Amino acid sequence: MTVSQSLLEGTVTVLFTDVEGSTGLGTRSGDQSAREILRPQEELIRKKVAEHGGEEIKFLGDGFMIGFSSARQGLACAVAIQRALEQERRVHPDGVLPVRMGLNAGEAIREGDDLFGSAVSAAARISAKARGGEILISEVVKALVGTYTDATIRERGRFRLKGFEERWRLFEVAWQEESPSPRRFDRTPFVAREEERAEFRGFLGRLAKGSGALVMIGGEPGVGKTRIAEEVAAEGRQQQFRTLMGRCYEMDSPPPYLPFVELLEAASKEVEPKSFRAALGDAAGEIAKVVPHIRQLFDDIPAPLELPPEQERRYLFNSIRDFVIRSATVRPLVVILDDLQWADESSLLLLQHVAVTLRDIPVLILGTYRDVELDVHRPLANTLETLVRSRLAHRMTLRRLSPQQVAAMLTKLKGDSPPATLVEAIYSETEGNPFFVEEVFRHLAEEGALFDTEGRWLSDLRVAELEVPESVKLWSAAACSAFQTQLVGP
Ligand SMILES: Nc1ncnc2c1ncn2[C@@H]1O[C@H](COP(=O)(O)OP(=O)(O)OP(=O)(O)O)[C@@H](O)[C@H]1O
Ligand SMILES: [Mg+2]
Repeated sequence: MTVSQSLLEGTVTVLFTDVEGSTGLGTRSGDQSAREILRPQEELIRKKVAEHGGEEIKFLGDGFMIGFSSARQGLACAVAIQRALEQERRVHPDGVLPVRMGLNAGEAIREGDDLFGSAVSAAARISAKARGGEILISEVVKALVGTYTDATIRERGRFRLKGFEERWRLFEVAWQEESPSPRRFDRTPFVAREEERAEFRGFLGRLAKGSGALVMIGGEPGVGKTRIAEEVAAEGRQQQFRTLMGRCYEMDSPPPYLPFVELLEAASKEVEPKSFRAALGDAAGEIAKVVPHIRQLFDDIPAPLELPPEQERRYLFNSIRDFVIRSATVRPLVVILDDLQWADESSLLLLQHVAVTLRDIPVLILGTYRDVELDVHRPLANTLETLVRSRLAHRMTLRRLSPQQVAAMLTKLKGDSPPATLVEAIYSETEGNPFFVEEVFRHLAEEGALFDTEGRWLSDLRVAELEVPESVKLWSAAACSAFQTQLVGP
């Protein structure tokens, strides 16, 4: 498919493939027979691209430029190609040449059949840094992909890419290895937060009656913001509410509307296609500008209107707000917008726009943010102030757990209550931050420092000798100074 027929636009993930040693092959065997050797592997690549919803933008003689509307699909496709080539190589050791691959994501400009832009050139440069059989990805792709469980992703360091001033941090996708086994420990059963949960029950009760709200949950990293939002969502699901999540990621210039794009993508998977299409409404073409993926799901999405930039934004905002309103007509909706401290300005303006209507529709939005990172340079600081001042958002701050609550967490982690000396030790190391309570507990358990051979708490725990992971020690020091800055800060 050529790009002029294709629907890729806006934020695109670009994969470049390149056959290592193809020039040598041409010289050795003649161009004609080189083509014959390479054709089967090109067909295999095309097949995988089609299976992953990618679009072949260009064939470059010994490689491809391929576009995806989803970074996750792009990466899955690259991994699938390498694995399929590896299988083929086992059968025909001489029939397959190693392929290097590079992936990047960002804004691309469409011109005729081609895609342009620095994000596209960077993808080509990244692929040139890979060796045969390797997949290298940029930091943006890594962030967009989020938790990737199909292969291990390892940092390879910073690289200079031709034509770019700053150095790029690149990651290798170790497709040969299965990803590390899932965590040996399940998630800790929820403890404490009774007051907050009671408050949220109030919000859920009003939601059932058709009235929503925006609750902004702030707190330090690891204090449990995402977790409490997920608990509220789970409670919502028990009441047959729909729940959706969109995240923000730490990047220099995040793609616009990223958390809402994730939200729409999640909705496209969870909601029955007919209702999802109905919720998109007549403005589906407008929404497809930021979520091109929906064009692949439906063939009746109109072209977006040509509007002057200011109107264009208003129209897009209204289209997404109306989508949210329509999505909640059948079942009330609980939406988590996670890590808003990293949201870009466009997403926050859209959030403000949506917030105005929440009181009259059954949509509860739970926004989480790290308040220690809420400095004046981040767009969220302003938005939050405006939202709270105009009473469009309720603010909730999560504090660290008390020693008793840490004891409750340890009891849940183990199944029975821990010795008081251990609770004291873990509390003093972690200061009641749930993330670090889990870290320290797991580390000590793995070291064999907590339980006897029968799995009981060791009766002679020598607390002074317990080794706490370095990461926790560093954190304690950093957190203390961050809090002091906050206390004395402006
Ligand atoms: N009340 C709780 N009971 C049990 N476990 C909890 C509780 N709160 C948090 N946890 C656990 O602690 C860990 C950290 O919580 P969470 O990821 O929600 O933190 P966060 O505030 O969202 O951090 P970040 O700012 O890094 O996103 C998670 O594994 C979570 O399951
Ligand atoms: Mg979180």
